[in-house]
Amino acid sequence: MSNIDALKKEIVETVQAANDIASLEEVRVSALGKKGKVTGLMQTLGQLSPEQRKEMGQALNRLKDEITAEIETRAALLKSAALNERLQKEKVDITLSPRPQGKGTIHPISQTIEEMIVIFAEMGFSVAEGPEIEDDFHNFTALNFPPEHPARQMHDTFYLPDAPDKKGLEARRLLRTHTSTVQVHVMQEQKPPIRVIIPGRTFRSDYDMTHTPMFHQIEGLLIDKSAHMGHLKGCLIEFCRKFFEVDDLPTRFRPSFFPFTEPSAEMDIGCSREGGELKIGAGKDWLEILGCGMVHPNVLKNCGIDPNEYQGFAFGMGVERVAMLKYGIPDLRTFFESDLRWLKHYGFGPLEQPNPALS
Ligand code: PHE
Repeated sequence: MSNIDALKKEIVETVQAANDIASLEEVRVSALGKKGKVTGLMQTLGQLSPEQRKEMGQALNRLKDEITAEIETRAALLKSAALNERLQKEKVDITLSPRPQGKGTIHPISQTIEEMIVIFAEMGFSVAEGPEIEDDFHNFTALNFPPEHPARQMHDTFYLPDAPDKKGLEARRLLRTHTSTVQVHVMQEQKPPIRVIIPGRTFRSDYDMTHTPMFHQIEGLLIDKSAHMGHLKGCLIEFCRKFFEVDDLPTRFRPSFFPFTEPSAEMDIGCSREGGELKIGAGKDWLEILGCGMVHPNVLKNCGIDPNEYQGFAFGMGVERVAMLKYGIPDLRTFFESDLRWLKHYGFGPLEQPNPALS
């Protein structure tokens, strides 16, 4: 074996023996560095005859290339082994339960919905739910919105791509703009007498101090043979007095319009704004809190209920709005920012019962 082969064998062995990048670098310097073995041999070329120099020069260059390649291969191997080891070491066991970092709280929206359900449950209402992705029929047509009616535009609807298996208005899918859609589902599925409340998320393309693209409503629907406007008023007055914990809370009903109720009304509650502070109860001012009315005969018909036999009332109210009023929360948008400090301040403990009227 020539000297060069012996040297190659020796260097390759030390390359293979290097167990980390630092010792591999040492091997490289000792072979190819300024004072390295191969470099040393290169420097002796000048002493050789021209033929020998040519032959030896080529051999040494080859040796240099081979050693460089060996070192690169070894370096890649060591780097990936080091990475694997690090990944193993830094692995996070996501099946471990987290250490509790303070108490969680119940979001004011959940709390408010819970309080509303309790009050209506006492009056004999049960809870119904429906889908958030809807079709045009349940959001508009069944609720007596004529096809090109401007009220459709007023809802700032989020539309989804049309359903592929249907055509025209029937194919149109959307995020429900109000919980009234569930009135339709309930009437299609249940026979009167019906007495339900429907809490849920609703969506409209709107964003400012008092509007967020997602918000919550609670809907009420009562259908039987004799329900009238007096029942509607009694039910809502009772609800508001209990919810706001003000026994003599003044209320008033103003005529309004919704395509799905006739007659329609909006309900206001009394308040005072003296000294810039809003107080629910007797005062000079009024605050609008919900929409309501007698279910339109066309809606009953559209849902398969005979309007000559049955009648009833419906109402809908914004959950954030009444939560803001009851708990003095000034900005609607903060409900959905998930700021832990806000949640800690306005959130409720799991067994907290902030409404004594309910306990
Ligand atoms: N759906 C109406 C709205 O979102 C509220 C409403 C519900 C009005 C039921 C009357 C009856 O504004």
